[in-house]
Amino acid sequence: MVTVTRAIVIGGSGQIGGWLLRHLWDRGHEAVGTYATVPYPGLHPLQASDREAAARWLRDQRPDVVFYPAGFTFVDGCERDPEKARASNLEEPLNLARVAGDLGARFVYFSTDYVFSGRDGPDDENAPPDPPNVYGRAKLEAERAIADLLGDRALIARTSWVYGPERQGKNFAYQVVRRLIGGEPVMVPSDQVSSPSYGPDVALAAVRLVEDGHSGLFHVAGPEVISRLEFARGIAVGFGLDPSPIGSKPTAELSQGAPRPLRGGLATSKLAQALPGLMRPLSSSLQDFLQRLEAGEGWSDPRVRPSGP
Ligand SMILES: NC(=O)c1ccc[n+]([C@@H]2O[C@H](COP(=O)([O-])OP(=O)(O)OC[C@H]3O[C@@H](n4cnc5c(N)ncnc54)[C@H](OP(=O)(O)O)[C@@H]3O)[C@@H](O)[C@H]2O)c1
Repeated sequence: MVTVTRAIVIGGSGQIGGWLLRHLWDRGHEAVGTYATVPYPGLHPLQASDREAAARWLRDQRPDVVFYPAGFTFVDGCERDPEKARASNLEEPLNLARVAGDLGARFVYFSTDYVFSGRDGPDDENAPPDPPNVYGRAKLEAERAIADLLGDRALIARTSWVYGPERQGKNFAYQVVRRLIGGEPVMVPSDQVSSPSYGPDVALAAVRLVEDGHSGLFHVAGPEVISRLEFARGIAVGFGLDPSPIGSKPTAELSQGAPRPLRGGLATSKLAQALPGLMRPLSSSLQDFLQRLEAGEGWSDPRVRPSGP
């Protein structure tokens, strides 16, 4: 096992970042996380767009591994603002990857299945990327630039359709459960297929890959390749809700801002060989999700309406 003496998680307030911190601490590593706009106790404020200040802070931390589950992750927003998409998803992580390089630290960048066209997925690590949108193009460029810069000190973890307990309560599972409980319509694409990935497992896999000294490109995703409709229905059933109000339409009728891969998904045999059985399927992940909500671990609960003024 590679010793992690000090890990930094840029984006510790986010979905994957929150779980990275939890696993790092649980596994006895020293770890410090950052937030950009949503503060949580113990996290350090850091705007990666303030490049000099961010680089200075990271240098002062003297990490031996930097996790970067951050950036502008709103895919349709990236299509509308390509400059911000490139800055957040390529230039800012690259800026901090350079600091990691200077320090001899390792750098873990989180990427996406949207680097693939989605014409004939699921794709493995050797499949040629062909991103269909601005977000995917920026992420792919970042993958390549970070790998070129850091060589075997770079780990690129591509993931997809991440769901599970999180503090900000934003992911797809929260949206489906809240809408069904609130009696609001749920409309999902009928023709988009990918790999739902349980956030706690994605984060644990990344930590374990670092501990085991892996580098390079890994697909870190759940074991099933299913449609958005099956995903939404599975979430409803897992939460004991009636899935019948969930409707679906072809992507062409949904006017999403960015083109989406349709037959997407990530083939994960490389990860399964390195960490057999770590990524759990939807049904058992949802059981774990509910158990963690019941245990009151501090994650947002989609079944509870936020109390307002
Ligand atoms: N979620 C998915 O389904 C999915 C799928 C494929 C790939 N990924 C990749 O996985 C990574 C993590 O995804 P996620 O779902 O955990 O994202 P998330 O929940 O949206 O979290 C993003 C994190 O980035 C931080 N951040 C945003 N802008 C920043 C900036 N300028 N400087 C510093 N920090 C900044 C956010 O801080 P605040 O919240 O405090 O502002 C937050 O902590 C992303 O790189 C994403 O591209 C995610």
